[in-house]
Amino acid sequence: MIFLLNKTNDSTLGVLLEVILKKDILTLSSLDISEFSLLFERAGELKNRHKKGICEKSLAGKTVGLIFEKPSTRTRISFEAATAQLGGIPLFISAGDTQLSRSEPIADTARVLERYLDALVLRTYSHAMQEEFARIASIPIINALTDRYHPCQVLSDLFTVIEYKEALSGINIAWVGDGNNMAHSWINAAAKLDFTLTLACPEEYMPDPDILSAAKEIAGDRVIVTHDPVAAVSGADVINTDVWASMGQEAESEKRRQKFAPYQVNRELLAHAARDVIVMHCLPAHRGEEITGDVLDGSRSVVWDQTENKLHMHKAILEILIKG
Ligand code: CP
Ligand code: NVA
Repeated sequence: MIFLLNKTNDSTLGVLLEVILKKDILTLSSLDISEFSLLFERAGELKNRHKKGICEKSLAGKTVGLIFEKPSTRTRISFEAATAQLGGIPLFISAGDTQLSRSEPIADTARVLERYLDALVLRTYSHAMQEEFARIASIPIINALTDRYHPCQVLSDLFTVIEYKEALSGINIAWVGDGNNMAHSWINAAAKLDFTLTLACPEEYMPDPDILSAAKEIAGDRVIVTHDPVAAVSGADVINTDVWASMGQEAESEKRRQKFAPYQVNRELLAHAARDVIVMHCLPAHRGEEITGDVLDGSRSVVWDQTENKLHMHKAILEILIKG
């Protein structure tokens, strides 16, 4: 959050200082419960209006930049489509095509881009890079994934859980697999919202202990970590998984395939969950690795609704951050 001081030129009133609040979404830890509720509510409204074919104009005249250092299908296209469908202009910029790739400082880039854009969506390896953009730029910075977090994905996933389960309160959510960027954002969310999160990860691939302990300080026993996938999914209302090797970890794929084999989400594991369990995966998925094809394509899977909801949630995020 950054505060700007705007000076007016009204001499009778002297110098009036107006405080404008700039909100970024770099992690879910920066949102309070009312902001989560607002985002869920607005995403729901925008989804209904989209289904009715209502034409939105809320971002008319606004330009949203997207700088991506890593590949993306869903996040990039849903943010671009969201901007366009709200009447704004999306501007995709491959990180390698900017002077960032020739070592122009982040701070200078941020000062330039705030003169052209109304918000900036970033997908980077480094989380610190996004923090630096957010510290300098006066426009909202939106994290579209870093090595450490994937907050917008988890926001739309929470919205999907609410659609299927009607509420988050009292819901048991299991995370099976890598203690990665997605797991970290789920842990951040559990600290703020009233659901139980049980993570089953191999010993060498646990979530970051600092992220975990910060969440446990607030959530206590609502955040549980185990190495046992069966214990994690027992009675679960939601089972979540993700790739075993994230972007940038491709060289470790073979080693990870061996370590993560007991953590595959398959029919046998599902048998331990609640009868109406839903299975989620942010995608892209590797059928036969972290999840079997029959589960991903089966009746308990909600992955296609999950992926659609990124469009609606990203609209809500852009509207609320840009328009206030
Ligand atoms: N789930 C997700 O972020 O997918 P992309 O990498 O395709 O954007
Ligand atoms: N954990 C995965 C998520 C992809 C959307 C990755 O970072 O590659």
